Amino acid sequence: MTDVMLRVSGLETAYGRSRVLFGVDLAVRPGELTCVMGRNGAGKTTLLNTIMGLLAPTAGTVVFDGADITRTSTCQRVRSGMGYVPQGHETFPQLTVWENLQVTQEAMGRRDPGAVDDALAVFPRLTKLLQRRAGFLSGGQQQQLAIARALVTRPRILILDEPTEGIQPSIILEIEEAIERLHREHDLAVLLVEQYLDLALRLADRFAILDGGVVRHSGTAEDLRSDEVKRLLAV
Ligand SMILES: Nc1ncnc2c1ncn2[C@@H]1O[C@H](COP(=O)(O)OP(=O)(O)O)[C@@H](O)[C@H]1O
Ligand SMILES: [Mg+2]
Repeated sequence: MTDVMLRVSGLETAYGRSRVLFGVDLAVRPGELTCVMGRNGAGKTTLLNTIMGLLAPTAGTVVFDGADITRTSTCQRVRSGMGYVPQGHETFPQLTVWENLQVTQEAMGRRDPGAVDDALAVFPRLTKLLQRRAGFLSGGQQQQLAIARALVTRPRILILDEPTEGIQPSIILEIEEAIERLHREHDLAVLLVEQYLDLALRLADRFAILDGGVVRHSGTAEDLRSDEVKRLLAV
């Protein structure tokens, strides 16, 4: 019996009559980094939003730490240890970097004075920008803030949707290194949606390829080099 932290079984999600997920199965073990890949429109964001309770599935279950959380609120999922960084590096643009982190800390409703400092320690660049409004940060800095905000919730699994999309190369490297450090040094489980194969090859322990609303192929990082993977990811 392998210990699984997050298990998705037979997950089906639709937008009205338009079905997108047709029975997705996925498991993430503690301390493991799993990369979800797949073409544009494959349903990666839909999958993560369903895992986080932002979309309700029409069938299937999401189990976290052995508990069925399929019908719980997003807020409960975050409090139970699931950190989410949605696609598009969303922040509160009118609030400063410091306020963005503080608001999240307050929303958690628990006394944890070190949470903001610990999150900032992962992205030293942000500590020089604490009084800047998030809307005035570069895309890469906003993404770092979005990840830091998720870290304020002290997740045991960090779920990220294309964190390097549209971001300048120098910051991609910083984000990659931060994810790697969190994963390796802090033993954080990570579920990462990433289109950039090189980065997936460097970071992933395991991968899953979403195609046609199901996981078509999965395996260890070495299998990522296979022709089947290239075929499924080819546009
Ligand atoms: N809010 C929505 N309403 C209707 N269809 C949507 C919505 N969001 C996404 N879709 C459709 O669902 C499919 C999967 O989208 P998405 O999960 O965003 O894919 P990916 O993240 O892999 O690019 C696409 O065909 C997309 O057009
Ligand atoms: Mg997406």
